[in-house]
Amino acid sequence: KQKMTVMDFQKYKDEGRKFSYVTAYDYTTASIVDDSDVEVILVGDSLGMIMLGYKGTTAVTMDDMIHHIRPVVQGAPHTFVIGDMPFGSYQVSCEQAMTNAIRMIKETGCDCVKLEGGINMADKIAAIVNAGIPVMGHIGLTPQTATSLGGFKVQGGTPESARKLIEDAKTIEKAGVFSIVLECVPSCVARAMSKEVRVPILGIGAGPDVDCQVLVTQDLLGMYGDFKPKFVKQFAQIRKAMVDGLNAFHEETLNGSFPSPEFSFNKQVDIPPAKE
Ligand code: KIV
Ligand code: NA
Repeated sequence: KQKMTVMDFQKYKDEGRKFSYVTAYDYTTASIVDDSDVEVILVGDSLGMIMLGYKGTTAVTMDDMIHHIRPVVQGAPHTFVIGDMPFGSYQVSCEQAMTNAIRMIKETGCDCVKLEGGINMADKIAAIVNAGIPVMGHIGLTPQTATSLGGFKVQGGTPESARKLIEDAKTIEKAGVFSIVLECVPSCVARAMSKEVRVPILGIGAGPDVDCQVLVTQDLLGMYGDFKPKFVKQFAQIRKAMVDGLNAFHEETLNGSFPSPEFSFNKQVDIPPAKE
C-alpha cells in the first residue's frame, strides 16, 4: 500500500473517501497493521493502560512514548504514524511544547504529533506547527484531563457544550491542525462539526458521520480484557485465540506430544563416556 501523506487527509475528506486508523505500540503489531489496509497508526498514550497496566494515561512520560514509537515506525514503513504527546509534555509553555514535539520527531521518525485540547491549547498547537511539525488535534473526551471533565463520559451532550466543542474545533483548525480526533460525543454533534470544520474529523465513539473511524487495536481485535467502552466493536476474538493456543501448548507439554521429532534436532551424536 501507498503511505498516506498529511495532504491526503484533507484530500480524502474533500473527495468523500473514508479511511481508518488504529493504535500500535510495538513492532509486531505495527507490522501486522502495515500488512492490513488500515492507513494510519497512532502510538497513543493509551499504552499506559494497554501496555503498562496503569489506570489511566497521566503517568505516561516522553521516554515511554519514544520507547514505543521507535519500534512502530520500524514495523510500519507503509503506514502514516502519529506520536501522541503525553500529559505534561506540552501544557506548560509553547517552548516546552515545541521542544518535546521536536524531540518526538527527531528521536522516532514518526510523521506527526497529536495533543489534547481546544481553545486552551491553540497557542501550543500554533507554536509546534510553526516549527514545521504537523499537529493532529484531539477534543471531546480528552483522557489526560478526564478528571476535570467529571470522568470518562460523553461530551457535548448539551446545546451549549456542543457549540463550545465546535468552536474548539474551529479554533484549533485556525491554529493549524491538519485533522482532529473527536472522542465520545453524540453522533449529531460530530456530524455538525464535520460540516462546519474543513479538516477531517477522526471519530472514536463519535458515530458514523465523520471522515475516519479510530479504535484501539487491542479493543477491536478483542485482546484487552479489562474494560470495553460502549463504542468498541470487537471484530475478532484474539484474546480467546491466544488463551486457547497457550492451553494447547501447556497440554502437549504435559502429555509429551510436543515436541515431536518434527520440532526436534534428530541428529545422532555418539557421546563418549565421561572421563574419571
Ligand atoms: O491514546 C489513544 O489511543 C488515543 C486514541 C483513543 C485516539 O488518543
Ligand atoms: Na491518547
